[in-house]
Amino acid sequence: MAPLSIAIDGPAACGKSSLAKALARRIGLYHLETGGLYRSVALFFLERGGPTDDPHRILDLLPEMDLSIRPDGSSSREIHFFLGDRDVTVDIRSETVGKWASTVATIPAVRTYLLPVQRHFAENDRIVMDGRDIGTVILPDASLKIFLSAPAATRALRRWLQLGGENAPQSLQEIQDDLEERDRQDLARSIAPLTRASDAIDLDNSRMTIDESVDWVIERLPK
Ligand code: CDP
Ligand code: CDP
Ligand code: CDP
Repeated sequence: MAPLSIAIDGPAACGKSSLAKALARRIGLYHLETGGLYRSVALFFLERGGPTDDPHRILDLLPEMDLSIRPDGSSSREIHFFLGDRDVTVDIRSETVGKWASTVATIPAVRTYLLPVQRHFAENDRIVMDGRDIGTVILPDASLKIFLSAPAATRALRRWLQLGGENAPQSLQEIQDDLEERDRQDLARSIAPLTRASDAIDLDNSRMTIDESVDWVIERLPK
């Protein structure tokens, strides 16, 4: 029987990775934040002569990227991202990288390249993955699928606080505009758009703490 796998999908900054991370700690699963893969690809291109959405250039350079994922070795079972030997897990967090990630994510060759990287883990280990297409494309047979949501204003406020509140590099309004723009791009793309899997369970976490949402998911795990 396939190991337990949990898919969490939803728009930007709705709390996917916080929920997945806390759940992974609570019940002992690996956690792969799949946005990190698209962010790593974006970082690679940003550092290699600037951003590009030219599919030919991307195809030419993909073989040189040497992207891999490895558990960080701690008991928290987080999975880290590497370009060659360099751990880029922290460097990929900026909003600039996030924006480019959303652009490289529209390129079919990039998604095809990242598909086996994501599936490989789920074949061998208990895992929770969060992203946009986990329940629909990456793990269509996941043991449990959650479609997470919260209103844009709530998500923008959370991201603003996460980036330092008054010390954030952008205003609350700018952050909300960026999130909404990224959501539009993620919903509109023809390949693996952000969509709710037909067998996913909806969770609006706008009035929940992270711990409460973990409890909610645990109650719904297959017995
Ligand atoms: O992974 P995603 O972009 O969907 O969101 P996240 O990075 O997990 O969460 C964005 C921010 O919202 C983080 O600072 C979380 O701590 C916060 N959050 C919250 O305040 N309440 C929740 N129920 C979930 C997330
Ligand atoms: O943390 P946040 O929700 O802001 O973004 P993320 O999950 O790190 O994802 C960055 C970008 O990667 C998204 O805007 C998507 O375009 C893309 N992505 C994707 O296409 N498919 C996934 N499974 C995960 C992320
Ligand atoms: O063989 P399987 O159905 O599992 O995957 P595939 O159809 O060969 O797709 C390979 C990659 O292309 C995946 O990463 C998908 O995200 C992407 N793809 C897609 O998203 N939508 C399509 N209509 C075709 C491919």
